[in-house]
Amino acid sequence: MNKSITARAHTNIALIKYWGKADPKLIIPQNSSLSLTLEPFYTDTTVQFLPTLDQDQISIDGQLLTNVAGLRVREFLDLVRQRAGIQTFARVASTNHVPTAAGLASSASGFAALAAAASKAAGLELSLPELSRLARRGSGSATRSIYGGFVEWQKGHNDADSLALPFQENIDFDIQMIAILLDPRPKKVASRAGMAQVVATSPYYAAWPPTAEKDLLAMKAAILKKDLNLIGQLAETNAMKMHATTLSANPPFTYFEPETLQAIEIIQNLRNNGISCYYTMDAGPNVKVICSAKETPAILAQLRQHFPADHLLVAKPGPGIAYI
Ligand code: ADP
Ligand code: DP6
Ligand code: CO
Repeated sequence: MNKSITARAHTNIALIKYWGKADPKLIIPQNSSLSLTLEPFYTDTTVQFLPTLDQDQISIDGQLLTNVAGLRVREFLDLVRQRAGIQTFARVASTNHVPTAAGLASSASGFAALAAAASKAAGLELSLPELSRLARRGSGSATRSIYGGFVEWQKGHNDADSLALPFQENIDFDIQMIAILLDPRPKKVASRAGMAQVVATSPYYAAWPPTAEKDLLAMKAAILKKDLNLIGQLAETNAMKMHATTLSANPPFTYFEPETLQAIEIIQNLRNNGISCYYTMDAGPNVKVICSAKETPAILAQLRQHFPADHLLVAKPGPGIAYI
């Protein structure tokens, strides 16, 4: 006990999106989802439970969080304490090597790293599926960041069976992403608030869970066939079906910015010129291009005519959690 533990977790981008909760408290989703863990984007989190503390002390990127901002992390620590049968407060220091709250899944790497570090620091020895379940309580997408490669979050029905499993950890075909950083600022509507508003008000939401489940089956088949074009097409249409539910919410909103549409058009033009590339966006304006490493130079050359070179980040598939 009282050991200082550091864990690293990578972010993941969903090819089939998690969108909408069946149980907001336990974070049970309305649909299963599938993601790709990314190598260059990650969070390092150090946790130490210290009897000398009279409250949790939480910092992200060197900034001490206030009581309000730190609430989500403190509630998560409460879960860990409950499970470990301890009452000690913790010092948490986390560094995001990914923009925070910009639609690049900082909540996924953030809560996966916190789950791994906090559980071990509290003396728990959890299996990977158990860690996935625990990370889920912090952020739904964190469920998947426990593993590398392609990961499936099986929605399940309750706290015990809603967890992620590796779908294909070692990817043996040519696929990667280019993240286009259009706007690194925190988004106006957090993922949590956005999906809750959609579930509560969009008349189109009812169509989402069944169509996402269908897309998931097709995606798994496409991955097994190593069919990059089919993977890209499915991811693109799935993402756009998700974003359509924000426009139809009340009040309506969108995560897109003008540059998001500009990036989409560039990708479409590249495709019309015979280059295989597809786009996906999460709850944020930044666009992720799905493509092969082989065609990445040609795609980058085109993107550089419109966006600064240092805003174009090539992301290969990444690994699961690790203790460092
Ligand atoms: P994103 O697109 O980055 O996942 P979200 O709106 O889903 O954006 O989540 C952002 C929230 O995730 C932050 O406001 C914060 O509460 C939490 N978060 C981000 N990074 C970390 C971290 N390293 N440790 C703990 N929580 C984090
Ligand atoms: C659009 O996992 O960030 O990125 O569970 O409320 O923390 P909470 O939300 P979060 O939502 C991610 C939504 C998404 C799609 C996805 O990652 O599957
Ligand atoms: Co998130």
